[in-house]
Amino acid sequence: MRLGWVVIGLLTLGFSSCEKDPNDPVYKTPSVYKPTQVDPTTIFPGGRFGMPSLPSDNPFTEEGIMLGRMLFYDPILSFDSSIACGSCHRQESGFAEPKKLSSGINGLQVARNASPLFNLAYSRKFFWDARQNTLRELVFEPIQAHNEMAMTLPLLAKRLARTDRYIEYFDKAFGSKPNVFDMSKAMEQFLLTLVSKDSRFNGFFPGKFSMLSESEKRGALLYNGLVDFDAVTGLTTGADCFHCHGGALAQQNNPDMGGIANNGLDGNFSDKGFGAITGNPADRGLFKTPSLLNIAVTGPYMHDGRFATLDEVIDHYSDNVNYLSPTISPMMAAHGNRQLKLTAQQKADLKAFLLTMTDNTFLTNPAYGNPFKQ
Ligand code: HEC
Ligand code: HEC
Repeated sequence: MRLGWVVIGLLTLGFSSCEKDPNDPVYKTPSVYKPTQVDPTTIFPGGRFGMPSLPSDNPFTEEGIMLGRMLFYDPILSFDSSIACGSCHRQESGFAEPKKLSSGINGLQVARNASPLFNLAYSRKFFWDARQNTLRELVFEPIQAHNEMAMTLPLLAKRLARTDRYIEYFDKAFGSKPNVFDMSKAMEQFLLTLVSKDSRFNGFFPGKFSMLSESEKRGALLYNGLVDFDAVTGLTTGADCFHCHGGALAQQNNPDMGGIANNGLDGNFSDKGFGAITGNPADRGLFKTPSLLNIAVTGPYMHDGRFATLDEVIDHYSDNVNYLSPTISPMMAAHGNRQLKLTAQQKADLKAFLLTMTDNTFLTNPAYGNPFKQ
């Protein structure tokens, strides 16, 4: 049982008359540690999304999720208390950022565009270069990166331990004093609860195409059609987006690809992506395939934010795919190295379809908002 805390509690009582170091966290006898369990089936929709596999040693609790949410929005996680996770990951932008490249404390630049954050429970690899496998370990990266939050873990542990709400919430959520280990578990819980499932796109599959406008319908056919060219007109009849951005998640439908691919942006790679992690030349220029849910609001686009608008993205796939790129995905090369050359109408149709993926319920859900502003 929680004998350890009883002992510490007794010690605290026993020495309460001693002089206290003012920097020492004032820790009271734990209140009742009785967190409220949250059933994962109330968080994840199942159905076409399926149930994600979840960390078995970090069950969801109301208190744990709330603690994670407070930490996510708290600038004291950065060295000069100026930046929170939520500064670069904004709810109204699908937890991405309306900025080409991120900048951390003192305006220092980060080399990549901030990733959107939702449906992370269904991902096995994180960051554009797929270098992280768990959210629990991931959170330590931005906190310690010199150009993001530039914090040290010992200093952070001290700060948390001096803050009343954390003394209260670590106790409620984990029966512990504030510490960075449980901090990462609480943030893992909060991040896993960010579920986007209510876009129109998610409503009309499968088979409810009648909910679409004519233009959206044509866009859906392009999105979900294999690349082929009409023998008479020479026009593309399919743009094959679904192989990489398919299914309910609009992401990595093809498990053989591991969710990372080279979509033909570059021939020379200034950022080697996954290749820089593995050192394998065959992995150069491979990046995590993002979900296209909420794509209308997560721009600028791509790992380096090179495209400001969806029109520019569509122009890339239509006209500018670099088929000579040495590691280009076989799914792209299946185009027979021929540019799709979508017409202006086809581009508009594809865009109309992409715009059905916006989930306003998710983007405005108060449960994901900044708890300090309410
Ligand atoms: C300075 C801006 C900035 C801050 C602060 C920041 N992030 Fe990020 N975040 C980014 C960028 C940029 C990326 C993409 C980095 C990469 O791929 O190398 C990213 C990627 C991520 C991802 C990966 C998502 C995916 O699908 O692969 C997660 C999760 C994440 N951040 C969570 C957090 C959390 C939690 C915090 C706070 C502890 C945080 N971030 C703080 C900018 C930021
Ligand atoms: C071979 C797999 C593949 C195919 C096919 C594919 N994509 Fe992508 N897509 C990716 C990858 C990988 C990225 C991220 C690349 C990067 O950042 O370097 C991406 C990025 C995007 C982005 C930017 C997402 C963001 O959050 O920045 C959009 C929008 C997009 N794709 C739309 C499409 C459309 C529309 C089609 C069909 C015309 C398509 N994709 C076909 C793999 C693919």
